[in-house]
Amino acid sequence: MVSGTGTNMEVLLNAMADPDFGANPVMVLSNRPGIPALEKAANRGIRVVCIDHRHYLDNRLDFDAAIDAALRQARVSVVCLAGFMRILGFQFVSAWEGRILNIHPSLLPEFPGLDTHRRVIETGKTFSGCTVHAVTPELDAGPILGQAAVPVLPGDTPTCLAARVNRAEHRLYPAVLRRFLNKRRETPTRLTTP
Ligand code: GAR
Repeated sequence: MVSGTGTNMEVLLNAMADPDFGANPVMVLSNRPGIPALEKAANRGIRVVCIDHRHYLDNRLDFDAAIDAALRQARVSVVCLAGFMRILGFQFVSAWEGRILNIHPSLLPEFPGLDTHRRVIETGKTFSGCTVHAVTPELDAGPILGQAAVPVLPGDTPTCLAARVNRAEHRLYPAVLRRFLNKRRETPTRLTTP
């Protein structure tokens, strides 16, 4: 799921081209029409869906329900948020918990939320980074699955720090997703007795 440029989406799609990766991209879903990520995915022949959040401004539950329906219809088993910039509600996240990952451009638990790079620089940090975590109802607070650190250099602007973090994200996200998928395969299915 994407909201913008889609560079993380691209590296995940590239990684999935390896038959040993353990996943296939079934759909790229956006909350905004006309974004580069959608065009990139469509150019690769991947099904794209846009659920425009502006049509649901007074009803977030319906927005979440539309996303949920689209994911189920496409028989999605794992969701990767890759620069998806809308907050998903409790009901949606609870339904997908354990099957939904997010990448965040800071070393969580530090700097959750927006405007990360400016806050990192203003706080005088000498390093920053990115985190892939399991999504839980509390924003940017789910179990951490992997992190990569980068230095904050003297004179860094939020833009150049963002670019450095973004490059680290491109190494981290495919590696963490691969491990996540392997673990899922290793976990035996629990059969419930009726
Ligand atoms: C990435 O830096 C990602 O960590 C961030 O958006 C960027 C998307 O870049 N995500 C968040 O801030 C989520 N709260 P991309 O579209 O080039 O992958």
